[in-house]
Amino acid sequence: MRLGIFLSGRGSNFVAIYEAIRSGRIKNAEIAVVFSNNPDAKGLEYAKDAGIDTVCIPSKGRKDRHEYDIEITAAIERYNIDLICLAGYMRIVTPALLDAYKDKIINIHPALLPAFPGLDAQKQALSYGVKITGCTVHFVDGGVDSGAIIMQSSVIVDDDDNEDSLSAKILRREHIIYPATVALFAENRVMLEGRRVKIRNDDEKTDIDIINGIDNA
Ligand code: GRF
Repeated sequence: MRLGIFLSGRGSNFVAIYEAIRSGRIKNAEIAVVFSNNPDAKGLEYAKDAGIDTVCIPSKGRKDRHEYDIEITAAIERYNIDLICLAGYMRIVTPALLDAYKDKIINIHPALLPAFPGLDAQKQALSYGVKITGCTVHFVDGGVDSGAIIMQSSVIVDDDDNEDSLSAKILRREHIIYPATVALFAENRVMLEGRRVKIRNDDEKTDIDIINGIDNA
């Protein structure tokens, strides 16, 4: 499976996926290209140092999203990407890209969707006062963090948590569930049925059950 990673900044989720491939936790997958809209993205620098192909089309000053996404589609076509992972990619994806990669674009969001979509999800969770939040890997559709949910993991909000501590707690979970989700795609186990995503089980008890904290025993 050939992956395209889209990022705009730090890129820690990209690195988590990259490390999981290198260590064999994700099998049959390679990162074909890292794309960024931000020439200064740390993740882009990391990719270059790691010898991964990169493509950058600066989005600053680009108002026409559709035209911009057409340009991306053309620029990455030659990489024959099977799955695009948005990893801190701070642009709304338009049908120009969605249609070219139908049901092949996923994203990670730092909240338990459908709660707290959009920006500053951790801040939203704290302001609302929820006791449990977490992260979600989901398919990307035309809305904001509104696509079908693939995997979620929860964290407890402690009384002394602030935005930084909560974000760090959630990020640790992101680094577990994003690579785990990519592994499922590489094993061809993800089935999309309407809004529901089902995971084909190979074993009696899969890693996914453990990650989700589901224990039917
Ligand atoms: C993560 O919190 C992710 O959930 C959100 O953006 C952040 C990206 O972090 N979509 P990084 O660039 O992967 O470190």
